[in-house]
Amino acid sequence: MDKPKVVLGVSGGIAAYKACELLRRLTESGHEVRVVPTASALHFVGAATWSALSGHPVSTEVWDDVHEVPHVRIGQHADLVVVAPATADVLAKAAHGLADDLLTNTLLTARCPVVFAPAMHTEMWEHPATQENVATLRRRGAVVIEPAVGRLTGVDTGKGRLPDPAEIYAVCRRVLDRGVTEPDLRGRHVVVSAGGTREPLDPVRFLGNRSSGKQGYALARTAAARGARVTLVAANTGLPDPAGVDVVPVGTAVQLREAVLKAAADADAVVMAAAVADFRPAAYAAGKIKKKDDKEPDPIVLVRNPDVLAEISAERARAGQVIVGFAAETDDVLANGRAKLERKGCDLLVVNEVGERKTFGSEENEAVVLGADGTETPVAHGPKDHLAETVWDLVAQRLG
Ligand code: CTP
Repeated sequence: MDKPKVVLGVSGGIAAYKACELLRRLTESGHEVRVVPTASALHFVGAATWSALSGHPVSTEVWDDVHEVPHVRIGQHADLVVVAPATADVLAKAAHGLADDLLTNTLLTARCPVVFAPAMHTEMWEHPATQENVATLRRRGAVVIEPAVGRLTGVDTGKGRLPDPAEIYAVCRRVLDRGVTEPDLRGRHVVVSAGGTREPLDPVRFLGNRSSGKQGYALARTAAARGARVTLVAANTGLPDPAGVDVVPVGTAVQLREAVLKAAADADAVVMAAAVADFRPAAYAAGKIKKKDDKEPDPIVLVRNPDVLAEISAERARAGQVIVGFAAETDDVLANGRAKLERKGCDLLVVNEVGERKTFGSEENEAVVLGADGTETPVAHGPKDHLAETVWDLVAQRLG
């Protein structure tokens, strides 16, 4: 099969250096990438870098290799155009159909999906001109990723940061796989918990688990791509924030409960993908627990943690709120799953089999989604994003 052809447009912002990593991810995962920088982008990262990383010549103007009509051909032959970073200027030009260099010409001739990953100072992002341009591009079917909040150039912080290249890559993959889909979760607020809680014993030790958070992040990312406002309650994941998602970091089960209850108050759906510790040490030692030479260690006494899933299922914050749990099982997967669904009182339970080399930390997953209405939806082995899409399909059905 031919490699998917991606045009990577790079416009003139400091975040241009992060596009090198996006380019690397794209080429290493089997995409044919043509980089089209703007002249200003080359102030930040030179043509030699783009050319070496992509394996193709690079030009910014329509006047190079005119006989090949590059201003038309590059756009015509692409399966996807992604502009990262997209400056306010490039968004404005694209929204108004201006074409004064190779990138803007390419945007006019491309008939494939187009993804913009804007990066700029907060004032420029919030300016009504930019907001109207973004709305225009989205109305025409372009995917415009919400910028992240965080450190900008110099000492400034705020909204306008380029999302992590891994997340831009994930958005590109979704668009290549599924095209630009209807935002069927637009206007919905969804809460996802992810990762594994850590219950501290002393300042340096904790009881934890092997959950990586990848499935929860896939859920958050796909919900955002489907138009939802997403709150991601993240327990000890160390993963880059998914683009356009509000991330609330937590450590322990008690902190996770507080964050989930708060976010769930106005949520249409809550998906509990986090591995929440059922027990925590009864006591926390303020100083590091020392070994005593000739003595046996003291046993660790545990107490129960709240069951967040059971609690939010019993006391629904809103009528019609859809609640989804996850069950990690090692044996009798389906029978245990059915019993757990009833015990927890949620609407859907994603049951997957876990073991030393299964699920934890891996990029792929396989599961059955059990419904309180008796339904069973098997999800074949595949990327965690696919399972996430199925979960949102089932949630969207239930939200009506
Ligand atoms: N969960 C929760 N609060 C807890 C424990 C679990 O909200 N204190 C949620 C998890 O986020 C997950 C679901 O409950 O969605 C199932 O978790 P799991 O650990 O598989 O089930 P348990 O109820 O702990 O049952 P067991 O450990 O006995 O299998």
